[in-house]
Amino acid sequence: MEAVVLVGGQGTRLRPLTLSTPKPMLPAAGVPFLTHQLARARAAGVTRAVLATSYRAEVFEEHFGDGASLAMHLDYVTEREPMGTGGGIRNVADRLTSAPDEPVIVLNGDILSGHDLAAQVAAHQAAQAAVTLHLVHVADPRAFGSVPTGADGRVTAFVEKSPEPVSNQVNAGCYVFTRSVIDGIPTGRPVSVERETFPQLLAAGAVVQGFVDDAYWLDVGTPQAFVRASADLVRGVLASPAVPRIGAALIRRSARVDASASVTGGSVVDADATVAAGARVTSSIVMPGASVGAGCVIESSVVGRDAVIEAGCVVADSIVGDGARIGAGNELRAGARVWPEVTLPDRALRFSSDV
Ligand code: GTP
Repeated sequence: MEAVVLVGGQGTRLRPLTLSTPKPMLPAAGVPFLTHQLARARAAGVTRAVLATSYRAEVFEEHFGDGASLAMHLDYVTEREPMGTGGGIRNVADRLTSAPDEPVIVLNGDILSGHDLAAQVAAHQAAQAAVTLHLVHVADPRAFGSVPTGADGRVTAFVEKSPEPVSNQVNAGCYVFTRSVIDGIPTGRPVSVERETFPQLLAAGAVVQGFVDDAYWLDVGTPQAFVRASADLVRGVLASPAVPRIGAALIRRSARVDASASVTGGSVVDADATVAAGARVTSSIVMPGASVGAGCVIESSVVGRDAVIEAGCVVADSIVGDGARIGAGNELRAGARVWPEVTLPDRALRFSSDV
């Protein structure tokens, strides 16, 4: 079976991490996020995938090459201008090898999902659908378009995101298309599957099927979700063939963690990174070459490559860009983002009102 993976987005919500690295290539549990998706797809029977690239396209092929390390065949197609989700799918059509009536899996490159992909394909074939969408239920559907279904599982509407959503059943970003439907997407201009292709198929009376599966699911598009995905993979909350050993933390052999420091909650301390005495690192990603000073508290955060956090800092729910230097005694909280190479003087930022 073959798949298309959409990996061309700019990942603006994850800046500054995505200034240099596209979102699907950011490290989660120590390897590019996309590795987990591809490895899970491979386990479900996908032997060939075409990556629809645009933003920083070259990085993908440099890392994954022909896909041999994943025991699958990878191909790459780059849009000169971003074509949106539908345009990106259409743009790879001439690289697909499936027959017109065969299923092709399409994955957003920023979803971590434990759902049963093979069962989604089987549901698509049983319903003889044009498209079958993986749907999940979320606690707060306001950030999503809702996708209600009827008793037979057919999608009845695509409702744009709103402050008062009609349902908490949402598009989970994994589709099975009948190949000929991909060939029918218009060429030469940006197209959104969510806003254009799917509503048009519904209006034309095509079978648009929902596949509801509430297994583990996370859209990793925000910093909070990204660190959570990495921590969940490290701890084995979601199994990934690309995480050979699960545990409380992943500490690379070349990293140096002081014996009095604690690294827990699914954190990663990557190659050549250091964590000094008394520091506490929880559910965070410390990228290669970064250093965390004595007594620091790092929680649900990303410390970028070669960044330096000096002693006594608190970094919570925040991102420190590559090569940034955070002087001693700073407190970063609640979505703070420090741009790459920026230096913050000692004790420049504190959150407590009593300081
Ligand atoms: P934000 O800018 O933070 O919203 O992230 P994003 O650019 O990734 O956008 P979004 O999360 O809506 O994208 C969903 C998926 O589609 C991601 O896997 C993107 O990589 C992919 N994607 C978005 N736009 C394009 C595009 O124009 N071309 C291709 N090939 N993929 C796209």
